[in-house]
Amino acid sequence: MRSTSEAVDKRLDKLLKTPKGAESQLFEAMRYSLFAGGKRLRPFLVVASADLFEVDKSRAINVAVAIECIHTYSLIHDDLPAMDNDDLRRGKPTAHKAFGEAAAILAGDGLQTLAFEILSSPDTHRDANVRCELIMELAQASGIHGMVGGQMIDLASEGEDLNIGEVTRLQQMKTGALIAFSAEAGAILSKASKQKRQLLHGYARDLGLAFQITDDLLDYEGSPEETGKATQKDAGRGKATFVSLMGLERARQQAEMLAKQAIEHLEDFGGKALLLRALARYVLERRK
Ligand code: IPE
Ligand code: IPE
Ligand code: MG
Ligand code: MG
Ligand code: MG
Repeated sequence: MRSTSEAVDKRLDKLLKTPKGAESQLFEAMRYSLFAGGKRLRPFLVVASADLFEVDKSRAINVAVAIECIHTYSLIHDDLPAMDNDDLRRGKPTAHKAFGEAAAILAGDGLQTLAFEILSSPDTHRDANVRCELIMELAQASGIHGMVGGQMIDLASEGEDLNIGEVTRLQQMKTGALIAFSAEAGAILSKASKQKRQLLHGYARDLGLAFQITDDLLDYEGSPEETGKATQKDAGRGKATFVSLMGLERARQQAEMLAKQAIEHLEDFGGKALLLRALARYVLERRK
């Protein structure tokens, strides 16, 4: 994870040199949020999935950077007063606290479009069909049927009693879709078979849910020192989560079951899937 993180940071730094003009604060806000110390879990997933198919590292890093831009944009907007209204992110004041709401909104917008600019570059893949597929898949995962749609349901469901199917759908959209894109990216980049891609999709579906359940558990029982964000906030806002639905112990068991299930999808990849297996275990144990 550390080596992926370094490669991603290096590429981001090169892409986002702060210009001299009045737009410089936009770049500063984007850099501030990007370099605040995220785990880079989605980039790691891209690189680990690309490794399965021996995809060129530099191309994989381009996709990793694109997904991290989308993810960071989603966090900046998620923290805005109109959404979760949070003051702390990645251990620092949130973007709107540091730069004001307008710059934070624009920083999110800028990161989103930058992601698609990166995917459309011939450096990402020499075959334009592959680039188009990456763009379409990322648009779907981050858009109205994915992250953005899930965020709307998340906010609209505050104070509502959702059932397990509804919470699962909400979490799959808001968090799962971007994780699924990351896990499938290697298969897209290498034009792997539908069947191989389906296995990664199954893995990511379970991994994404386990990941979001752990996020909800950390909100309940973690600390700001560990997670770098305010904790014990979901209950106060009446958020619909697995923890609110089934309680701490059953939510934990559910996450464990999902991580185990995620690993089972990897059988056909044999020893090559070592990192993806380790990631499923990490998702449960993480305190950050
Ligand atoms: C936090 O994501 C938001 C969710 C989708 C749960 P991460 O836990 O990956 O956040 P960073 O990137 O490490 O800050
Ligand atoms: C946010 O979920 C997921 C996205 C940003 C798409 P949360 O609202 O639970 O994320 P945190 O806990 O603020 O990181
Ligand atoms: Mg939220
Ligand atoms: Mg939030
Ligand atoms: Mg959360």
